[in-house]
Amino acid sequence: MTLCIGLTGGIGCGKSTVAGLFAEHGAAIIDTDTIAHRLTQAGGAAIPEIRKAFGNDYLTADDALDRAKMRGLVFSDMAAKHRLEKIMHPLILGQAKAQLQRMHSEPYIIIVVPLLPDSPSFRQLVQRILVVDCESSTQIERVIARSGMTAPEVLAIIAQQAPRTERLQLADDVIHNDAGLPRLAEQVAILHGRYLAMQNNI
Ligand SMILES: Nc1ncnc2c1ncn2[C@@H]1O[C@H](COP(=O)(O)OP(=O)(O)OP(=O)(O)O)[C@@H](O)[C@H]1O
Ligand SMILES: [Mg+2]
Repeated sequence: MTLCIGLTGGIGCGKSTVAGLFAEHGAAIIDTDTIAHRLTQAGGAAIPEIRKAFGNDYLTADDALDRAKMRGLVFSDMAAKHRLEKIMHPLILGQAKAQLQRMHSEPYIIIVVPLLPDSPSFRQLVQRILVVDCESSTQIERVIARSGMTAPEVLAIIAQQAPRTERLQLADDVIHNDAGLPRLAEQVAILHGRYLAMQNNI
């Protein structure tokens, strides 16, 4: 069995950056955001169910998910958010499992799952949980710099995600990401050594 680590954290905490650093050490990466994106592209496997649940209003002319429009809806409508998640989560889980089954030669696998705190099925899939954590002021600053979102928009997303304390309670390992990139790389290098040792002991 290959050691599989679930990497999670709030918006802009640094999940993708950390996954990139682990990849430099040779870890295999599965990214559920990428999977979700693919499922909702034109011709994606989620499109028929999205059409059934939401009608054509939330699809573009070429039959992809209209992301901006759907984002607007799920922000203001919790029932719609849950309806979308009920479609997406099982499909994402299925694809992640399929990718896992194809991996054999990697030393260990990092699976990036922002929704991990809300998903018992994903928690069952992994042997360890790694949380990338930072202050919400850092999150807001970095997301604004990255995407040009406003502070209230970032705060609204943070409010929709699992609370920081809840995430940290699930963590086997924590990476603190309030300092710069060199400090982040150091923490990843230490964890890489630990994960290699664990893999050898499985
Ligand atoms: N230690 C750091 N120092 C400076 N900038 C950082 C650091 N860590 C991450 N960043 C930057 O902050 C932004 C958010 O990081 P990243 O995209 O890795 O977060 P994420 O958790 O994947 O976000 P999302 O939830 O939106 O997928 C990026 O622009 C990234 O380059
Ligand atoms: Mg990311």
